[in-house]
Amino acid sequence: MTRYSFSSDSPRDVVAGLLIAPVFEGLEPGPGVKEAGLTEAYAAARYTGKQGESLLVTRRGGDRFTADAVLLVGVGNKAEFDVHAARQALGRSAATARRFGTVATTFASAFGVREAERAVQAAAEGLALGAYRFTLYKSEKDGQDLKKVVVLGSSRWDPKVIRAAVERGRIVAEAVCWARDLVNTPAGDLPPAAIAGVARAMARDVGLSSKVWGTAQLKDGGFGGILGVGQGSVNQPRLIELSYRGAGPRSRPIALTGKGITFDSGGLSIKDAKGMETMKDDMGGAASILATMRALAQLKPKINVIAAIPSAENMPSGSAQKPGDVITHRGGTTSEVLNTDAEGRLVLADALAYLVEKKPSVIIDTATLTGACMVALGDKIFGAMGNDAALIRDVIATGDAEGEPGWELPLHKGYRRLIDSNVADIKNIGDRYGGAITAAWFLAEFVGDTPWVHLDIAGPAFSERGHDLGPVGGTGVPVRTLVRYVLDKAAG
Ligand code: BES
Ligand code: MN
Ligand code: ZN
Repeated sequence: MTRYSFSSDSPRDVVAGLLIAPVFEGLEPGPGVKEAGLTEAYAAARYTGKQGESLLVTRRGGDRFTADAVLLVGVGNKAEFDVHAARQALGRSAATARRFGTVATTFASAFGVREAERAVQAAAEGLALGAYRFTLYKSEKDGQDLKKVVVLGSSRWDPKVIRAAVERGRIVAEAVCWARDLVNTPAGDLPPAAIAGVARAMARDVGLSSKVWGTAQLKDGGFGGILGVGQGSVNQPRLIELSYRGAGPRSRPIALTGKGITFDSGGLSIKDAKGMETMKDDMGGAASILATMRALAQLKPKINVIAAIPSAENMPSGSAQKPGDVITHRGGTTSEVLNTDAEGRLVLADALAYLVEKKPSVIIDTATLTGACMVALGDKIFGAMGNDAALIRDVIATGDAEGEPGWELPLHKGYRRLIDSNVADIKNIGDRYGGAITAAWFLAEFVGDTPWVHLDIAGPAFSERGHDLGPVGGTGVPVRTLVRYVLDKAAG
């Protein structure tokens, strides 16, 4: 467990293994650099201070700083330096910070009082997220860990507000890392019943109420989509229900759901070997919703939030659903399963129909739903589609503010007919093209006129190359966006 704190001590006197300070373009020293007497080190080390270039200076007798070492980090143009750039640069520095164990940073001091809250939160998040590693299955651990993070800032800032922002950074970052652990855990060790168990234990720990629906209850409840996808696996499906109450019983909740396919082989419409390599991540949506609920329970906003998360394993077998099968979803809509690999929409349909029954103010779903969305937007940007322009705009704006970019794809009316079925109400695939949109049209059938936005995170849920804020694997996107969205709604 990492401890996080705020301090307005001078960067020279801060007690830590490592002090991290920014350097702007043109070798302009950021906060703390001059005080620590480090501008001379620039020349001696031929340091150019280019964006991304960093310099580690260890303390010698006579040096003017107390930390064991200072990491100078080139962050580029001062005018363009914002809280996102700060979060990312600290994320990249976290590998060095892990070696020292205790770290302080002056990054937030580069911002004025108006941005101070966001800046200290981003600093805490950057270090916590960048230091994340998944070592559960490594027999040799490197033994490194972030034990203490001190965010330095101005003594003129309101300490109560700033401490709360650091704490928010801690809670959000821990939730993101918790989601990453779930995504990174192999599918063999995390079937639907296990995810449900993790969810239930988490709910108990943080004080959420929870209910897990098993196969028999799903049958009684008419959840044909979840059951259909799950019927090919020996691992039975589940529906995980969580609720957070921060407002009175008459206040309409925000409703959340996420795709929880613990492994997507494609079913009988089987994927090739390459296509399956990362399919343990097909519960990234579910993980991000569970993590969001966990963070909300700790942050305690004055609003109600409910989540219903469908989880199943999509496998081929003698009992698997077959192309051409028709299933009846919660609420009675029927769908023709022409491709068993378009399974996410089948389980989400049931969850959406169920959430609508709760009369929520809005519904947000997030899912690793289509390769098509990844083709359209790459691995950094989620696709957003829905039936309510204001909601879509709000969620995308929140994502931008959190450094989790999204982009709206059009729910073009003319494409709706692509999911018309000859035998059932709708079919689960469209044409060859526009796959992200036809998938969203399928979901739209189940939300009625409840304001709804669907976030296709097939790209950003998983990083195949590693990124500024974390290593290869689950990213925890879009936890930061969802938490911020709910906090902003609660604040009015
Ligand atoms: N889980 C996949 C989508 C996916 C693909 C996520 C690659 C991340 C990376 C989803 O269930 C799927 O298989 N979708 C199909 C739909 C198609 C059969 C209509 C796809 O995108 O190819
Ligand atoms: Mn699939
Ligand atoms: Zn899938």
